[in-house]
Amino acid sequence: MKRKSWLLVLSVIMMLSVFTAACGGGGNQAEQTGSSSEGQTENNASETDEPIVIKFSHVTSPDSPKGKAADLFKELVEERLGDKVKVEVYPSSQLFDDGKLVEELPKNTVQLGAPSATKLVGIDPAFQIVDLPFLFTSNEAVYKFWDGEGGEILSKKLESRGIKLLALWPNGAKHFTNSERPLTKPEDFKGLKFRTQTGKVLEAQFNALGASAVPMAFADVYVALQQGTIEGQENTFNNIDTQSYAEVQKYLTVSGHGRIDYPLITNTKFWEGLPDDVRTELEAIIKEVTAQQRQWAEELNQQSYENLKNTDLEIYELTEEDIKVFQDAMEPVYEEFSGDIGEEILELARQANE
Ligand code: LMR
Repeated sequence: MKRKSWLLVLSVIMMLSVFTAACGGGGNQAEQTGSSSEGQTENNASETDEPIVIKFSHVTSPDSPKGKAADLFKELVEERLGDKVKVEVYPSSQLFDDGKLVEELPKNTVQLGAPSATKLVGIDPAFQIVDLPFLFTSNEAVYKFWDGEGGEILSKKLESRGIKLLALWPNGAKHFTNSERPLTKPEDFKGLKFRTQTGKVLEAQFNALGASAVPMAFADVYVALQQGTIEGQENTFNNIDTQSYAEVQKYLTVSGHGRIDYPLITNTKFWEGLPDDVRTELEAIIKEVTAQQRQWAEELNQQSYENLKNTDLEIYELTEEDIKVFQDAMEPVYEEFSGDIGEEILELARQANE
């Protein structure tokens, strides 16, 4: 019995010491546990305190209407959302060209982009509405279309790709430049190679004029013009000016035959996963930036046209009669693509002109 009692006492002592050890030798272990859970809290805190990063990729110059708007967005976000959100703007195709952007946005490797609508043709042919010759007759018509039912229909087409339309940032009307001769009538285009963004509508437009289309990333156009692998291109006054095409082109035809306009797009999951207060503030900022962007688009294109007049470019402005001749020559584009683009959306664009 004595031995049993002794064993009992011994086992109680052992149990107690195991228990004490499990508790970590009192204070010490408690400190370790404490410090480790504090560490965890710190990590978690640093995770949640870490600012949300928005990468904004675009292809134009920082001095373009889109470039300036992207920078203004960054400035206002950092001013109003303090250390909650950080915006990284990558201009001039530094991060991605537009083709890659459209691929990467659904993967959330980039969160904001504003590619020209044409570049979304792989998602739906209706985005080529901007390319139909002489369709939109003013900036106001473009705003009316995108801010209304036209924009709603196009926005729905992005949904299945996990892309959300946030706003429409315009650039403006496109014009032709080339290195060979003044382009005043359709026959002048014969045999020339023009760079295009992408898509069948632009190809058909040049084919209707007897020219050919060479799809190419924006960042490669200057060198291609310089090396003569293409003779011409089409773009807004501001892009022609900020990309210094006057250095490698001789003739500018002021035609306004199509549009360069930018759907501002994001990754839907990313956007909808943002804290409510952050998203609401970002949306308010986008509204403000969009108003300013539209004003810049008009002013900067006008300014760029003045700048181009001071270069060696020989400029020809199409008259109303010239435009009628071009419209007739380009009519086959409508016959071929109205169905693909959609009669409903085409009608909405026409109504926006009224
Ligand atoms: C182009 O490729 O010509 C345009 O999309 C460039 C731009 O973003 O204005």
